Amino acid sequence: MACPENMLFLIVLFISGVLACFGQRDLITTMPDRLDVLTGSCVQIPCSFDIPHQIKYTFNSTILTSGVWIKGNPYFGERPDRVIFNSSKLVNRYQGEITGNMSQKNCTTVFFNVTTNYTNKYFFRIESQPFRATDTEKSVNIVVSDLPSSPILPVSGEVKEGTPVSLNCFAVTPCPEHPPELTWTLPTQFTTENQLQENPDQTKSVLSTVTFTPSYLHHEKNITCTAVYPVGTSNKTAEHNMMLNVSFSPKDTSASISPADPVSVGSCVSLTCSSTANPPVTNFTWFKISEGKTTQVASGLSYTLNVTVDGEQYYCEGRNSHGCGKSNEVQLAIKGQEEPVNPKVFEIVGKTLGLIFLFSLIVFFAWRRRTSRLPSGFDMTDRSQGLVGMNSPVGTVCSNQATVSRGNQEPPLNNLDGL
Ligand SMILES: *[C@@H]1O[C@H](CO)[C@@H](O)[C@H](O)[C@H]1NC(C)=O
Ligand SMILES: *[C@@H]1O[C@H](CO)[C@@H](O)[C@H](O)[C@H]1NC(C)=O
Ligand SMILES: *[C@@H]1O[C@H](CO)[C@@H](O)[C@H](O)[C@H]1NC(C)=O
Ligand SMILES: *[C@@H]1O[C@H](CO)[C@@H](O)[C@H](O)[C@H]1NC(C)=O
Ligand SMILES: *[C@@H]1O[C@H](CO)[C@@H](O)[C@H](O)[C@H]1NC(C)=O
Ligand SMILES: *[C@@H]1O[C@H](CO)[C@@H](O)[C@H](O)[C@H]1NC(C)=O
Ligand SMILES: *[C@@H]1O[C@H](CO)[C@@H](O)[C@H](O)[C@H]1NC(C)=O
Ligand SMILES: *[C@@H]1O[C@H](CO)[C@@H](O)[C@H](O)[C@H]1NC(C)=O
Ligand SMILES: *[C@@H]1O[C@H](CO)[C@@H](O)[C@H](O)[C@H]1NC(C)=O
Ligand SMILES: *[C@@H]1O[C@H](CO)[C@@H](O)[C@H](O)[C@H]1NC(C)=O
Ligand SMILES: *[C@@H]1O[C@H](CO)[C@@H](O)[C@H](O)[C@H]1NC(C)=O
Repeated sequence: MACPENMLFLIVLFISGVLACFGQRDLITTMPDRLDVLTGSCVQIPCSFDIPHQIKYTFNSTILTSGVWIKGNPYFGERPDRVIFNSSKLVNRYQGEITGNMSQKNCTTVFFNVTTNYTNKYFFRIESQPFRATDTEKSVNIVVSDLPSSPILPVSGEVKEGTPVSLNCFAVTPCPEHPPELTWTLPTQFTTENQLQENPDQTKSVLSTVTFTPSYLHHEKNITCTAVYPVGTSNKTAEHNMMLNVSFSPKDTSASISPADPVSVGSCVSLTCSSTANPPVTNFTWFKISEGKTTQVASGLSYTLNVTVDGEQYYCEGRNSHGCGKSNEVQLAIKGQEEPVNPKVFEIVGKTLGLIFLFSLIVFFAWRRRTSRLPSGFDMTDRSQGLVGMNSPVGTVCSNQATVSRGNQEPPLNNLDGL
């Protein structure tokens, strides 16, 4: 019987009208709305069905029921090529298998060797002895692509320095027989845990959980979750990048003086505090150390003061919601009366003079020994190096140190001439 298209359309309208009147479908299937599949891989369609029209037909699990998949449009009467899979047949257009137990109303189906032209919507039909029905109102949309979709990194809560944090990454798994392998790239040590899990729509996902302890050094560094899908003998890769936002207490806090050169008493100098913190520092506080006593003198990023005579020291503190950071101590250099004010300077000058004296003595005795016995030059060179090692902790001796180091490359006698 060859109906014209519009006639068929009317019939369809009539049938759906009748169905709408009774408000019931002969077959109700449950399956996902959409499945994203990788070319060359397989797709598992989670599926179950129910027969609500119990008056007309009672499902008898002992009767062999076959499952049929129809592509694009549920009405296949005119177009038998729309039937791409029929579990009663040995050979089908689509290679596949109903893996669910039909007796338990489980129509879960796997199609293998998916190609891009599988992209379409699919309807399910059952054929049993007295009863056959297609669910025309529910279909699954299969979308095939050559590249896997990126794994998903849901936005997590706050990442704080020093507090262990766990992040999740999900990768869709349309072919649970060949799940993707998830790996992480992090700027620090970490542990991971992977598991195959079921989503609410019965599809599967691989969930990978990474655990690590962030430090402030990881702020604005990328972390990557990579999914490797095995397809045949090769792999297809997709990844998701995320920039870490680590909140941390103030770091690298430092105080600087402007102008940096010695200033005269009565002029103004500016002290500026700098610090890195996340969230940024909201409160800078300035402290003065005078005669061993610390007092809070100001707040704010910069502190301008009128220079007085005494050698005071200053430092700043930055504070945010995670804690605080303290800067180095800076000392104002005053023009004309720099050194003598600070007892520390006496100490350093004294030590320097002492060391120069000691050094001169050693060199002198070495010279005496050398002039009397004339040993090989190496002996003396080693001795000089030993001396450099001794001197190095004292900053002010740097210039002397340089002389000795240079002297090492020259004959020892020239070194003495230089002194
Ligand atoms: C189911 O079918 C079998 C035979 O195929 C029959 O013996 C049995 O009575 C049926 N059960 C019901 C509940 O209809
Ligand atoms: C499925 O296959 C069976 C057996 O070959 C056949 O009787 C039935 O009509 C087929 N169903 C469809 C929808 O093609
Ligand atoms: C249906 O069968 C599949 C096996 O193909 C199984 O993984 C799934 O759990 C079954 N679903 C139910 C609801 O039993
Ligand atoms: C399917 O389910 C029926 C009834 O629950 C059971 O008797 C049968 O063994 C199951 N078949 C398979 C292949 O598991
Ligand atoms: C189809 O898939 C099966 C199983 O996944 C595999 O053994 C076979 O080689 C594939 N065939 C083609 C033509 O890709
Ligand atoms: C689908 O594409 C494959 C190759 O990608 C081709 O061999 C096959 O004939 C196509 N099938 C249909 C129904 O177009
Ligand atoms: C595919 O990836 C797995 C690990 O995910 C690896 O062991 C295998 O060597 C890779 N194969 C190819 C062909 O790259
Ligand atoms: C970090 O990730 C962003 C995208 O989130 C990317 O544009 C950038 O190139 C990545 N940086 C590095 C160093 O990988
Ligand atoms: C990073 O986190 C801080 C506080 O935790 C927030 O203020 C800031 O907006 C975040 N930055 C980005 C780029 O998300
Ligand atoms: C600094 O203080 C002295 C005395 O307290 C005053 O004479 C001078 O004007 C002040 N200088 C400035 C720049 O405020
Ligand atoms: C800044 O911190 C200091 C000391 O912690 C406190 O005395 C001051 O009130 C704070 N200022 C503001 C504006 O929060």
